[in-house]
Amino acid sequence: MLHKKLKDFPKNFFWGASTSAYQVEGAWDKDGKGPSVIDMAPVVPGTTDFKVTSDHYHHYKQDVALFAELGLKAYRFSIAWTRIFPHGTGEINPLGVAFYNNLINELKAHNIEPIVTIYHFDLPYALQQKGGWSNRDTVDAFAFYCETLFELYGDRVKYWLTINEQNMMILHGDAIGTKSTVAVENPEKDLYQQNHHMLLAQAKAMKSCHEILPHAKIGPAPNISAIYPASSKPEDVLAASNCSAIRNWLYLDMAVYGRYNNIAWSFLEERNATPDIAEGDMEIMASAKPDFIAFNYYSTMTVAASAGDASDRGSTGDQQIVVGEVGVFKGASNPNLSKNAFGWEIDPVGFRNTLRDIYERYALPLIITENGLGAFDKVEEDGSINDDYRIDFLQKHIDQIQLAITDGVDVFGFCPWSAIDLVSTHQGCSKRYGFIHVNRDEFDLKDLKRSKKKSFFWYNALIAKNGAK
Ligand code: BG6
Repeated sequence: MLHKKLKDFPKNFFWGASTSAYQVEGAWDKDGKGPSVIDMAPVVPGTTDFKVTSDHYHHYKQDVALFAELGLKAYRFSIAWTRIFPHGTGEINPLGVAFYNNLINELKAHNIEPIVTIYHFDLPYALQQKGGWSNRDTVDAFAFYCETLFELYGDRVKYWLTINEQNMMILHGDAIGTKSTVAVENPEKDLYQQNHHMLLAQAKAMKSCHEILPHAKIGPAPNISAIYPASSKPEDVLAASNCSAIRNWLYLDMAVYGRYNNIAWSFLEERNATPDIAEGDMEIMASAKPDFIAFNYYSTMTVAASAGDASDRGSTGDQQIVVGEVGVFKGASNPNLSKNAFGWEIDPVGFRNTLRDIYERYALPLIITENGLGAFDKVEEDGSINDDYRIDFLQKHIDQIQLAITDGVDVFGFCPWSAIDLVSTHQGCSKRYGFIHVNRDEFDLKDLKRSKKKSFFWYNALIAKNGAK
């Protein structure tokens, strides 16, 4: 629809920004923190590790003051499970608890709404050693961790996100460093058993959140991309529907309706990869309800009909680069879109498509918890960083949110990635996303000084006008 008149952004719209604990905090082994799977994973050659990152752990006061100056209404961050429970469960770590108390208090003091991701890729290594998500005990450990967070911080935190990008951990765990390295007889079945356990853990978290904190709101946070067929050939359209069922709806259908969709389930049956479902699991999932859907959007995906052989898989992928499924769909590139420096297609209109698709299917309020442009920023001689490409990217995506709102989609917040520079999942810290620059290089920590990029001033002005032009 070509709207003649656009609707305004809602009055209390959460103009925010996002980070995750392991990518921004550093202090990976400080004050009693235990190791996570990320801390123990091999570092991608040529990129930095996650030991110091942006050292937000020691700079959080300064960073929150900058977020306030930026004008943020909300800040989405994750809690490192291993700061609270260094071994995943058991003894609580008071210094880790104190860090998030301080961070939340600092945000509240600056009138910034904390939006907390409970688990963002950094599973405690102690749990991984006992089988990680393949082991059903991890469900209970997660449920207990969640209850602990609700009790500790629920008096101040109203918005909770269960698991960041569970779909990417399942589909691209090798790229993002979360994949279990334990040898198993049927890796695909094991993977979807992990998936089932995470879905169950999420359902338990949603239920206990509602019991412990009746006024709080909680939702899932997958990575969702509208999937396009490579052509109007019916076989390509079918492939796109397959891909969407497996990549997107499997996760949200479970979160919202507590059911495996038929296409995803028959895909699992074909591969002898259906999870073992214990008595009572489906009842728990059907009775757990999210209050909203959070999702991360970077790009759309384009797929073609399967060739029925190994060529379907293509080369290595990541969160936004399709790996095909033999016999189901094959990745294709979209000739209508340009790509960023890391091969991710740029598709602002696809954002509107994605927002509409999700709202059509679930009719729940939506918040975007990630969207942004990874780029090699340049610091000029005078210290300025003129990231016009980032401004252009974000403005075009914000325009599409407004169009989606005008279409009738209920959107209550936008938290781009990232509030401040941090370390990418697998492409180092030279791939920057932040509004705030952190003075360090891939292997030289320098002074970690914070400075404002051009996008900082642009976003500040946009927030002040509530997105109006
Ligand atoms: C999402 C993750 O997949 O994309 C973030 O939730 C991540 O943790 C972001 O950083 C951008 O991806 P990358 O690989 O460039 O860091």
